[in-house]
Amino acid sequence: EKKCILSGVWQNDLGSNMTISAVNEAGQFSGLYLTAVSGAEKPILVSPINGSQHIDSLEQPTFGFTVQWTFSDSTTVFVGQCFVDKHGKETLQTMWLLRVKARSAENNWNATMVGTNIFTRIKGQNL
Ligand code: BTN
Repeated sequence: EKKCILSGVWQNDLGSNMTISAVNEAGQFSGLYLTAVSGAEKPILVSPINGSQHIDSLEQPTFGFTVQWTFSDSTTVFVGQCFVDKHGKETLQTMWLLRVKARSAENNWNATMVGTNIFTRIKGQNL
């Protein structure tokens, strides 16, 4: 069975793009995220990714990463799993939590959004 490799360039169902660098021996990786959509009233900028994956199950590993948005005061965390189908096609099935900055603790109750994204590879692991 083919290994599912997180390194490379991916696009999700919203049209957002991310580039994940090499995964180190501890399973840690960094990358860059360019979102296609935003709730912030600012121009979208490329934002850094930091995450890690399981290295004890290389075939279809689970992973998580944080995107610290450079153009807004929000933070998104993604968790997911890398799947390979019988043709060798990889997809990242993810769920995310998007935390927006609340003005005060009274406004905390509606400050976290949840959703799903599916990523497909658009370039090889050598970028
Ligand atoms: C913001 O709105 O403050 C920052 C941009 C958030 C983009 C979100 S993160 C979850 C979802 N998936 C994407 O690719 N973009 C949106």
